[in-house]
Amino acid sequence: VTPEVSAEMFSPETTLLDREDDLATLDRAQAEAVAGDGRVLLIEGPPGIGKTVLLDELRRRARASGIEVLTARGGELECGFGFGVVRQLLEARLAGASGEERTRLLAGAAALAEPLFSRAVDEDSRDVAFATLHGLYWLVANIAERAPLMLAVDDVQWADEPSLRFLVHLAHRMAALPVVIALTVRQGSGKRRHALTALVLEAHPPIIRPQPLGEPAIARLVRASLGDDADPALCHACAEATGGNPFLLAELVGELRRNLQPVGQIDPSSVQTIAPERVAGAVLLRVSNLDRDAPALARSVAVLGEQARLVTCSALSGLSPERAQTLADALAELAVIEPGEPLRFVHPIVRTAIYDDIPPSERALLHGRAAQLLADQYADPGTIAVHLLVCNRSGDRDVVRVLREAARRALADGAPDSAAVLLRRALDEPPDEQDRPQVLFDLGNAEHELGSRAALSHLREAGETAVDPITRARAYVTLSWTTHTEPARQREQLALYEHAASEVRAHDRELALHLEAARLGGLLFNPDLPTRFADEAERFRGLPAQTAAECLLLSFVARKDLAAGNVADAGDLAERSALHPALTCTGGHPLWRTNVTFCLVAAERYEAADQILTRAIGQATRTGSLQWLSRAAWLRSWVRHRRGDLRGAEMDARTAYDAGGLTYIHSKYTLLFPLIDTFADQGRIEEGEALLGEGGLDVELAPIPTSICPLIARGRLRAAGRNLAAARGDLEDSLRRLEAYRWFLPAAHDARIALVPVLHALGDDAAALALADEALQVAQAEQSRRAIGGALRVRGLLEGGKSGLDLLRQAVDTLADSPSLLWRAEALVDYGAALRRSGQATAARPVLREGMELAFRCAARPLAVRAADELRAAGARPRRLAGTGVDALTATERRVAELAATGLGNKEIAQALFVTLRTVEMHLSNSYRKLEIHTRQELAKVLGG
Ligand SMILES: Nc1ncnc2c1ncn2[C@@H]1O[C@H](COP(=O)(O)OP(=O)(O)OP(=O)(O)O)[C@@H](O)[C@H]1O
Ligand SMILES: [Mg+2]
Repeated sequence: VTPEVSAEMFSPETTLLDREDDLATLDRAQAEAVAGDGRVLLIEGPPGIGKTVLLDELRRRARASGIEVLTARGGELECGFGFGVVRQLLEARLAGASGEERTRLLAGAAALAEPLFSRAVDEDSRDVAFATLHGLYWLVANIAERAPLMLAVDDVQWADEPSLRFLVHLAHRMAALPVVIALTVRQGSGKRRHALTALVLEAHPPIIRPQPLGEPAIARLVRASLGDDADPALCHACAEATGGNPFLLAELVGELRRNLQPVGQIDPSSVQTIAPERVAGAVLLRVSNLDRDAPALARSVAVLGEQARLVTCSALSGLSPERAQTLADALAELAVIEPGEPLRFVHPIVRTAIYDDIPPSERALLHGRAAQLLADQYADPGTIAVHLLVCNRSGDRDVVRVLREAARRALADGAPDSAAVLLRRALDEPPDEQDRPQVLFDLGNAEHELGSRAALSHLREAGETAVDPITRARAYVTLSWTTHTEPARQREQLALYEHAASEVRAHDRELALHLEAARLGGLLFNPDLPTRFADEAERFRGLPAQTAAECLLLSFVARKDLAAGNVADAGDLAERSALHPALTCTGGHPLWRTNVTFCLVAAERYEAADQILTRAIGQATRTGSLQWLSRAAWLRSWVRHRRGDLRGAEMDARTAYDAGGLTYIHSKYTLLFPLIDTFADQGRIEEGEALLGEGGLDVELAPIPTSICPLIARGRLRAAGRNLAAARGDLEDSLRRLEAYRWFLPAAHDARIALVPVLHALGDDAAALALADEALQVAQAEQSRRAIGGALRVRGLLEGGKSGLDLLRQAVDTLADSPSLLWRAEALVDYGAALRRSGQATAARPVLREGMELAFRCAARPLAVRAADELRAAGARPRRLAGTGVDALTATERRVAELAATGLGNKEIAQALFVTLRTVEMHLSNSYRKLEIHTRQELAKVLGG
């Protein structure tokens, strides 16, 4: 596909009539856009009103003022197929670039878009959808680096879905790019296409709506074509008949001219009979009057669309090449098609007239034959598939094969939506009984990628109908990933995993082990079954931790140890099972990383967990996998919260949340809780409450395992906001649920320790005391340092007096070397405050000072403020609470500043964080201001200190 196919239809000599205002508006908008305020310009109107010529004129002016213009056109036929418009826009530009320039254009994240243009099909194409969009964005940004850029897309209502998605993605991130997206769209078309509506909504006002031509303009056009002596009455009749639509007018005047009547003799009233609703009829008549075979050739052009080369058209219409050539010349003469190759109609309206005139049954036949012809020419599977999508179903194996091949490429190109369309069509064909499960499996995978629930039934059916055990096993493994947090489904799928595993065990041990892991995941979420997770997990303890599946299984054994309270063993085993590199790659069973993280966190091995997850985040960023980025960042935010790095936790939680492109597996439920936890500890109650509302967490939470951690976070937030009754309700509820799930989440300590002071404040000291004792007991049994320290602290607060003071000192001692900094700070501040109250102000001061400084480092503002107040009460004068310095940076500012300090440029930072350049610039300048520095070189020093 050449980008310049719609070569200037509008020759420079011709002037556009009645478009001065529209052009002035467009000029202004374009000037603003290239000044760095990128935007979407939209020209909208009915067919034939002059949108394309207006866009052509805009492009001409853009070029004249030094803007690089890339062009594409939506085609009625290609609609809904993978990245056609994006390829038209960018392919030739890349192909035409010198080696050095190509390297520059594909630098950094733009490389993610390269497969789209090199046709290299990546077998492992999991979650590439976002990667492609991300890569394309940076490709455009790189092109626009040297000169402002215009992306002009004519007839965007026919653009394919993935390209529309890209244009929307770009439109959202254009603020700092000198890029204009100029679009034309037919009025009222494609209302039901979500991506199109989204794109149209991005258009910057005012939207250009070309109006019908006025009578003076019409008279000029009529006279220019028919002669200066055309009667005013005739011009008026033309205006009446066409309503000022320039396309209809051109057709009408052309028709009049072909009648070869001297202009003086044309009866104005005859004009009515020619136009306008009869334009289609007139075109058809013109074609059929030309020659008996002309309609066949015209139809083949209409069916082949972009592929209408003369040889292909002659083959499709059954005419000899010589005859086809003669007819093509004659049709060009009659202004039906453009002269030259490939054959192309003079106007989309003409194509529609011809195409709509083909009876549906013949249309399907022609598309079928077109597919065959293109296949014989070794055309790209995607090109062939366009025709297969609209031809009749016939149960043809080859059709299924081509559709699947096209789907595979679409998936690799990051267009899972196109892949799903192709595979659904392949299913309808229908495929052979023996191919069907494989098609279902592919479809399920594409849908999984898209986050569609339809994946579940397709994967399930693929497994149920598969003849070969390998396909069945693969389908069930993916099925288990897509539903891993849903107890009811897992319960029901257990038998499937078992059966499939027994079938493949002899052939493919690794696959069988993956199914065992799927089964363990199902049991973990269903603790009431007679088959116990703990017993089943135990069976795998002896595995050697060499393959990915072995490590995955061992992570479940670690999880078993954790639930049984063997925290240290769980930590050891988790580190062992984390050794396989697959853990930090994208794809795979989502529970692996979760298991490992949970165990490491419980054992306070934060550094190990942080490192694993940092590698996983890096990997996800490099491959552009939004889904895995979100999962890993989510887990790391949890780790960082536990160690008291509240800002780090907040920034990760935001990354996870903003990553947005999540599938149904990852509900907002689980994603939000670390953020709410950090808000609770930072005293940002209102923000936390707003977030609860936004995430739909401010209502009764469903009785599912994924709601337990959010419930605890909500309870802690409410406790921090002194909403005690609600806090009690949430925390007690979470403990009940944890018990029902056999303490399978390592969150009980946090719930208990948060609940004790709430009960005390509500005056229920008996309950508080019982709970504090229980907390201490469990923590001691598990030898969990953080939990022992936390329990001692709340127990000491309850106790009061001399023995209370003693318990608080024990808490401080226990946590003295703990990396759980926030809990250490809490113990210090509570102990110091108790010391002061008991009249030991001098002893209290250093304790409080240490607590205050730690609280600061954690960004736990309420605790720091309380420590400062206590210090003052103890007779000290603490330093003013900082408003500048590293502590003053927001989570995002710190994230940007940290990356800048490592030597990354703004663009690389933007690419790594999936944000725009302007966002990076803004955060950096805010950081400079807060840090009171002026250069990048100073950053590392300030942050390091
Ligand atoms: N302002 C104008 N002055 C003179 N001729 C015009 C003007 N606008 C359009 N035309 C002529 O009218 C015809 C139709 O215009 P154009 O192809 O731009 O319509 P369109 O709105 O893009 O239609 P469609 O929706 O079918 O794509 C062209 O041949 C063009 O040369
Ligand atoms: Mg047009």
